[in-house]
Amino acid sequence: MKRFWIFLAILPGLQTINAQTMLPYKNSQLPIEKRIKDLLSRMTLDEKVGQLNQLNGGAFTGPALNDVGQKAKMQMVKEGKVGSMLNVIGVADTRSIQQAAMKSRLGIPLLFAYDVIHGYKTIFPIPLAEACSWDIKQIEQNASVAAREASSAGLHWTFAPMCDISNDPRWGRIMEGAGEDPYYGSFVSAARVKGLQGNLNDADHVLATVKHFAAYGAVEAGREYNQVDVSRVVLWNKYMPPYMSAVKAGAATVMNAFNVFEGVPASGNKYLVGDILRKQWGFKGIVVSDWASFREMITHGFASDEKDAAFKAFIAGSDVDMQSLVTISHLAQLVKENKITLRQLDEAVGRILYYKFKLGLFEDPLRFCNDEKERNNIFTSENRIIARTAARSSVVLLKNNDQSLPLAVTTKMLLVGSLAESKEDMFDFWVAQGKSKDAVSVFEAFKNKFSNLQFAKGYNTDLTTNETLLNEAVSMASNADVVVVNIGISGKMAGEDRSLAQPEIPVSQIQLLKALKNTGKKIIVLVSSGRPLILTPVEPLADAILQCWILGTEHGNAIADVVSGDYNPSGKTVMSFPYAVGQIPVYYNHFSTGRPTETDGMGNWYSRYRDIPNAPLYPFGFGLSYTEFNYSKPKLSSNTISKNEKLIVTTTVTNSGSRSGEEVVQLYIRDHAASIIRPVKELKGFEKVLLKAGESKTVSFTLSAQELSFFDADGKLILEPGKFSVFVGGNSINTQQADFEVK
Ligand code: NOJ
Repeated sequence: MKRFWIFLAILPGLQTINAQTMLPYKNSQLPIEKRIKDLLSRMTLDEKVGQLNQLNGGAFTGPALNDVGQKAKMQMVKEGKVGSMLNVIGVADTRSIQQAAMKSRLGIPLLFAYDVIHGYKTIFPIPLAEACSWDIKQIEQNASVAAREASSAGLHWTFAPMCDISNDPRWGRIMEGAGEDPYYGSFVSAARVKGLQGNLNDADHVLATVKHFAAYGAVEAGREYNQVDVSRVVLWNKYMPPYMSAVKAGAATVMNAFNVFEGVPASGNKYLVGDILRKQWGFKGIVVSDWASFREMITHGFASDEKDAAFKAFIAGSDVDMQSLVTISHLAQLVKENKITLRQLDEAVGRILYYKFKLGLFEDPLRFCNDEKERNNIFTSENRIIARTAARSSVVLLKNNDQSLPLAVTTKMLLVGSLAESKEDMFDFWVAQGKSKDAVSVFEAFKNKFSNLQFAKGYNTDLTTNETLLNEAVSMASNADVVVVNIGISGKMAGEDRSLAQPEIPVSQIQLLKALKNTGKKIIVLVSSGRPLILTPVEPLADAILQCWILGTEHGNAIADVVSGDYNPSGKTVMSFPYAVGQIPVYYNHFSTGRPTETDGMGNWYSRYRDIPNAPLYPFGFGLSYTEFNYSKPKLSSNTISKNEKLIVTTTVTNSGSRSGEEVVQLYIRDHAASIIRPVKELKGFEKVLLKAGESKTVSFTLSAQELSFFDADGKLILEPGKFSVFVGGNSINTQQADFEVK
């Protein structure tokens, strides 16, 4: 005992001696900046460049080029020539590679990154679907569950959220974003960053990545990796807000896009990375390339060779080279040739080291390698409950004639469609560690929920059909009161490299729907897809349509909850559903032409199609409920405000139906005349409210300079005096209007 007291007495002294002898960068008592400075002073040029090198260590999520092989990779890790790795997952693998990194001269830990796009093993709805919930708190919570699972599997970093605005359902990656609206997208991207990162201190969160910077959602014709050609005004007003908001929310990293902006690839684009991100927004975090995007600047015709690519990416302000090896091969030489200064290099390396310190990896490089956490935190029943809640609030009810839905659990029902049986199609390309065997299919969930159920395939897994399958479905339908048909396309058609020129319902399924419709039975359609498909031919054949998207692990359960009415649908689409492919891109926040359709006196000379309407089939913000909501005319606190005054807009929403439900109350504005034309409608407020049957709630929105301004071509916010309208309603089309003026 006595010895113990003596030990305690000398402990502070020992600690001081220890702190004095300890290398400053290893001393957790010192501020991170000091530790970085000390470490940089000890690093060789090659070791510094090594920090900017990111290698793939597992499954390929890009072309399998530039791979040096496992042995060489491990050697590079031991020599301090790798700063981070992607696609190495699980505690066992991250631990063993981290231990190898500890053998490097200075023992600098690696960062392990992975695309945890909508869940690690408990798979949440695809981000596009999740955004249809308009439930920002829930979106943040979903991201924090994903982060907890990922961090429990040894990971430090995820390449999410994708903040690209897009209005092109041909683009497979729209599944990964929050739809077509920059204002709403800004809330979603910030929530995702906050959920993923928390305070980054607890080893339960991961670094988030804002991607793809910038304007990747504008790829021409919706074709992956294609060109982008947008003006600065469009860049700022349409594409920038969600990135900006995610950066403001504290995102640690930003990823370059594959596309060019103004003819310069994003990875080497000084205007995007250096001027906007670093200078204008003061972003201090890491800029990581997309997969081999540094090297691809050669193929774009912007860099003459590998060395030029490394140089151009670096001087633009990009830091980490993901899997193209041009940085590790050439940056040191560029420093030796004084093309890049040591100071510039130190700044870039410092940004990576900062997050290694911040995550506590210098104190404990194996901090995220905890077997117990990996066993206990992943795919828990709690996480699955959260995923089910997220999944059911992502579903959008597009049509419900004569209250065809919900269906009593005793309904004599025929469920049709091989997609309803599939467990693979609950997932998209970004499945992370989600396992189809763990997912709940529609058929499985319906078997649990509905007592009088029959099933017919209707079409094959390859989405073709034949007479036998059609006849079987039709004859079984005669014994049913309601036919529920699951149509759509494979989950694997959503995600990277999944562009489709024809985002349509397969012909076989239309044939099937027609045959079933002829039976005279009530037809309920469930649409599975990672994008809005053209539902125009489906509309007349269905009594009710549920856009079910791809909902992850709890897909089937969520849909059963909605169909049975255990959950009253509350989702509103965040993308317009085109009427026809030729209408793409179609979006609510477009500009007025000089000859809009609604102008009188134009005769035949106005902007329209001769064969289809201009309007989409379902507009942005649209989604029905099993109850009805009525809106009062919006009231304004004043008819005129000055530039620095606020306008309060109130509306009373009443649930006039017979069951409780949630409504997303939406507010849009229009700035009628401006030095740069403004969209015909722009979302500037939303609130999701829960109303019991018969209940009313007054919802108020505040409009200030922030909401009423727009960006000029330099990214400067301007508010101009003039006439504005405000529109309030439950979607972007059916709104009530009031006018005011900014003096
Ligand atoms: C390419 C994708 O564009 C990007 O989003 C992803 O994070 C990387 N590959 C890494 O897998």
